[in-house]
Amino acid sequence: MKGKMWAGRTDGITDRLADDFNSSIAFDARLYRQDITGSMAHAAMLGEKGILTPSEADRIIAGLSAILSDLESGALAVDPAAEDIHMFVEGELTARLGDLGKKLHTARSRNDQVALDLRLYLRDEIAALIDAVRSLIGALTGQAEKNRDAILPGYTHLQRAQPILFSHHLLAYAMMLMRDVGRLRDTAARMDVCPIGCCALAGTTYDIDRRFEAEKLGFSAVAPNSLDGVSDRDFGVEFLAAASILMMHLSRLSEELVLWTSWEFKFVELSDAYTTGSSIMPQKKNPDMAELIRGKTGRVYGDLMALLTTLKGLPLAYNKDMQEDKESIFDAVDTLKSCLSVMTPMIATMRVLRENMLAAAQKGFINATDLADYLVKKGMPFRSAYKVAGELVAHCIASGEVLETLPLAVYREKSELFADDLYEAISLKTCVEKRSSEGGTSPASVEAQIAAVKEFLKA
Ligand code: ARG
Repeated sequence: MKGKMWAGRTDGITDRLADDFNSSIAFDARLYRQDITGSMAHAAMLGEKGILTPSEADRIIAGLSAILSDLESGALAVDPAAEDIHMFVEGELTARLGDLGKKLHTARSRNDQVALDLRLYLRDEIAALIDAVRSLIGALTGQAEKNRDAILPGYTHLQRAQPILFSHHLLAYAMMLMRDVGRLRDTAARMDVCPIGCCALAGTTYDIDRRFEAEKLGFSAVAPNSLDGVSDRDFGVEFLAAASILMMHLSRLSEELVLWTSWEFKFVELSDAYTTGSSIMPQKKNPDMAELIRGKTGRVYGDLMALLTTLKGLPLAYNKDMQEDKESIFDAVDTLKSCLSVMTPMIATMRVLRENMLAAAQKGFINATDLADYLVKKGMPFRSAYKVAGELVAHCIASGEVLETLPLAVYREKSELFADDLYEAISLKTCVEKRSSEGGTSPASVEAQIAAVKEFLKA
């Protein structure tokens, strides 16, 4: 193909397949706004420093602004034959302004340009993702508040363990997501360093003002080493790591929804809007959205692995391998946004089947710990109390009874310490209410957790 902007050292005539292979326009076209914004700041700086005349800078900025509005209105389409978005914008500018357009790339390289574009892109996307995660935290907290006192079995090893409040369980996810917001914010803070002006790798002989440009673009610092500035994709890795952890949380919540909506649990009913039917089995209501979120977690982990692997063998500074960074990052952004956009309303609209939760909590002897604690409070050493409680559970299993209704006489055969107050001590309500340690499942502890999450959401 003819007409390469970089023709000179070579005739610029490349094989068509090599062109296709080399091109990134198919995916980096989405950076057009960031690319143009960066170029406008660059032209302003060139004008400010007298590298371009003020009128040249103004005309370039006006030209870029016109390209941007034409792209947004649809009057101009990105040319799929362009090598990448940077070449497309510069080519279009030159087509419109003639030789003046060719001055834009003074004291700049595509290497610092692409490093800038990706940071500008992620800065906006991270802000949008933080909002989306906060909405999900809000939905979880809303359900926790609506179902403050619903009791269900808490599990370990997926075996019924101890009674807990459903609100306590939901808030555990709110806590995870609050950490995710923290990780995304950390990523954005460390990414807040402007690479433009690093040029190809070594800086430039022009008297540029990097801080002017950084400030114009809303960065609080400039990359202090030009080699690092153009080669650094740590922010992409950090973002993908934060994205992977966030997806892992969404996946665990999805897994709970899949379990909870099964007939075996039936703790929750999802709104019809977030379920599907089967093409053959008329009775089915499948939690496809939750399953897909769980499934898509794998691809985001893949995105992280892909970028880490791409970067691991690269010598300084820019290498074309780095063009591979974008698809992983875009894929993770798109996947997270779509997962969050479905998860939040799915949580907000789910119906909590409290009676089923309570019924499950009444089976499975989840108050056995409290039975042992009852004896301990009356003076028996814990290990002995544990054994007595275990024998009583075994007795109940053999006779088809439950601890709540087992006659006092049977209890007293095992220990004289048992008295009438034992029934109150092992009621599920007591079991929950007594776990009032900080962070525990008692209504008071959960209320404090709700307050902490709401405080977080207010800030
Ligand atoms: N499309 C390239 C990328 O995404 C832009 C930078 C190209 N730089 C270069 N020296 N060829 O990484």
